[in-house]
Amino acid sequence: MQDQYQRQIEYLRISVTDRCNLRCQYCMPPEGIQWIPHESILSFEEILRLMRISTQFGFRRFRITGGEPLVRKGILEFLKEAAQISGVEDLMLTTNGILLPEMAFDLKKAGVKRVNISLDTLDAERFREITRGGDVRKVIQGVFRSLEAGLAPVKINVVVVRSSNFQELPQFLELARNYPLHIRFIELMPIGTSSERRDDFVPIAEMKDVLGLKEDMATRAIPGGGPAEYYQPEGFKGSIGFISAISRHFCSTCNRVRLTADGKLRPCLHSSHEIDLCAALRSGQSDEEIADCFASAVWQKPAQHHMQDEAWNDVRMMSQIGG
Ligand code: GTP
Ligand code: 5AD
Ligand code: SF4
Repeated sequence: MQDQYQRQIEYLRISVTDRCNLRCQYCMPPEGIQWIPHESILSFEEILRLMRISTQFGFRRFRITGGEPLVRKGILEFLKEAAQISGVEDLMLTTNGILLPEMAFDLKKAGVKRVNISLDTLDAERFREITRGGDVRKVIQGVFRSLEAGLAPVKINVVVVRSSNFQELPQFLELARNYPLHIRFIELMPIGTSSERRDDFVPIAEMKDVLGLKEDMATRAIPGGGPAEYYQPEGFKGSIGFISAISRHFCSTCNRVRLTADGKLRPCLHSSHEIDLCAALRSGQSDEEIADCFASAVWQKPAQHHMQDEAWNDVRMMSQIGG
């Protein structure tokens, strides 16, 4: 489906829960957040219906996000059904990896194609600090289980924060040299709790400098529908990617919309404008009427975000949108 700026919108990010088993500093306040009440969360049947409808007008890639998607009860059965919908070409997951040691093989069996895993540091103490109590060993184990299970290409998301993990970039580079892992360094977005931490922002250009990456190492060979640009220096089993959400935004090639766990369709990550699909579903609207809601959301997608010059004044935290 095309929007008013001639972008092809074919990628739906579906947040299946706002709950999480970690409390990352840039994502949530220490006291946590008020969870969305159970009755407002879309059931898996409702999500599957929306997926089916969306495939009829060209959506074909689906990324399941959270909070942490693997904490939702019944997630494997849901994924199994989602993978079987005709028109679903790519079913993918973004996860914090804590539950991957026990779930990676089941995810593969359910039909998930690949996983993106959030892992901001390889240091146990720093990981505990960033996530307020998480165990990095589980995530690292989860990364290797995912490789064994064939959930490839396995991508690692590293949100770079100057006062925290910035010094670790070279260690991550070594990981990409030695393993088929695609490490993506992400610019810190001023969202929710990270809004006040402007000094912690590191632009991609500075990261590339530190890593000594040259333009002739750029590659387009890494599968994905997202905004990362990748580099693969000679001899690397994996690659290094960059997601320049702020310094060089990629809105002109954006291909996605988002569905929140309470059934609101968000045309843009950084716009609180939402279309209430939950109300449409629960008031008994037909597939055609719901398809119209989708179409209007896609049409209303803004040309670009203004994160660089506007404070985030959204009612939602990142964990309630799914990144
Ligand atoms: P693939 O390329 O398909 O592997 O997925 P992805 O990189 O789009 O997904 P992932 O959930 O791993 O997101 C990685 C980072 O990119 C997260 O920090 C997201 O918040 C960010 N991101 C994803 N889509 C957008 C977008 O449309 N706009 C902005 N500003 N950031 C985005
Ligand atoms: N800026 C950039 N990325 C973020 N994520 C969460 N909060 C932010 C932020 N403020 C990332 C997570 C996860 C992905 C879904 O979004 O690390 O990998
Ligand atoms: Fe949970 Fe992800 Fe937010 Fe961390 S960034 S608290 S893992 S939702």
